Amino acid sequence: MLRFRKFFCACRGMRSASERVNITNDRRDAVIQTAGIVANQQLCREHYRLTLSLDMFPGAIPGQFVHLSSEPDSPSGYRTWDSSRRAPHDAHTAKRSAPMLRRAFSIAGLRDVSEGINLDVIYRVVGAATGWMKSLSVTDRLSLLGPLGNGFPIHNRKQVAWLVAGGVGLPPMLWLAEALRNASVRAVAFCGAQTSDLLALTLEPSVRPADDARCATLCCHEFAQNDAPVVISTDDGSLGFRGHIGAAMAVYHKANPVPQDDLVVYTCGPEPLMRFVAEYCVERDIECYACMERAMACGTGLCQSCVVPVRDHTDPDGWRYRLCCTEGPVFNAAEIIWEPIGSG
Ligand SMILES: Cc1cc2nc3c(=O)[nH]c(=O)nc-3n(C[C@H](O)[C@H](O)[C@H](O)COP(=O)(O)OP(=O)(O)OC[C@H]3O[C@@H](n4cnc5c(N)ncnc54)[C@H](O)[C@@H]3O)c2cc1C
Ligand code: FES
Repeated sequence: MLRFRKFFCACRGMRSASERVNITNDRRDAVIQTAGIVANQQLCREHYRLTLSLDMFPGAIPGQFVHLSSEPDSPSGYRTWDSSRRAPHDAHTAKRSAPMLRRAFSIAGLRDVSEGINLDVIYRVVGAATGWMKSLSVTDRLSLLGPLGNGFPIHNRKQVAWLVAGGVGLPPMLWLAEALRNASVRAVAFCGAQTSDLLALTLEPSVRPADDARCATLCCHEFAQNDAPVVISTDDGSLGFRGHIGAAMAVYHKANPVPQDDLVVYTCGPEPLMRFVAEYCVERDIECYACMERAMACGTGLCQSCVVPVRDHTDPDGWRYRLCCTEGPVFNAAEIIWEPIGSG
């Protein structure tokens, strides 16, 4: 019951709550535009990099995301409901039946090119929208809304940053590594996958990932170009450390201690992984930020479908809901309530 009361309070207080929160890049800067396709390249068994061409893009930072849809000719990007169209049952029928609602994807890279801007998203094919994305080629166009969300804070007072990514949590970390290098913060990346052919990274031919998580190497091209060594883990031990990437980070930490005031940890990926990393950091008083995922129908604070419970000592109950799309997706990990509300 409390859960629902909180939810409706969140709806009523939405506007003022959003105004109070320091949204790094206010969503009023977000634009809807038509994007062309530059490339749609397969990176591993289930991940692809989609490079989009845009005429312009408002200032954005790593951790922000874009909302994509298949309807570039509709002003909103939404398709009107056509009951004669059947929902797709698998990725093969997805191009014809791309979904009505936009889908959220972290910005994996953003750069100026002579014809405008190129923006990368890296996606794992899991259902209708990502099945449709897989079918896109250079002759296609899509509708893009963004940039959305707040993004990762970067503090120059921190000398070392650890980027802990599991599975499809990797994309925002690629762009974050570039931003950290530009801010002269030393980054180490921790990248985990279920198995080696689900790791969406380019391995350097001459540098092997260490089997032992005590050592980070310049084994991944995407991070090496930003001077960031990498620890790799796979659940089945087919590449790098055997185990989940949070466990690899703990092993690395033991072998490479850093004063807690000098260290910041950023994490993105499956929720159990982010919870492990967040709790590890909170116990040791290490600053940590988690990039949360929620199903997002609107991406702009209207539908209230994306709540994350957070501790809030100014609230009489000691917690409240925040919207992942406008007040996140990046949250201070110490504030996130990981247990389902009402389970205690
Ligand atoms: C802020 C944000 C950033 C994201 N960045 C990326 C990214 O960089 N790369 C990437 O591949 N994916 C990313 N996602 C997840 C992505 O939005 C979903 O994978 C996508 O919506 C799936 O759409 P679909 O139609 O292919 O699958 P669906 O048919 O909608 O769903 C297939 C399966 O995936 C689950 N699912 C769908 N959406 C989500 C979601 N948002 N969170 C958790 N599970 C979901 C469904 O429950 C279902 O089991 C991000 C999500 C958010 C909220
Ligand atoms: S409020 Fe609609 S997705 Fe967040």
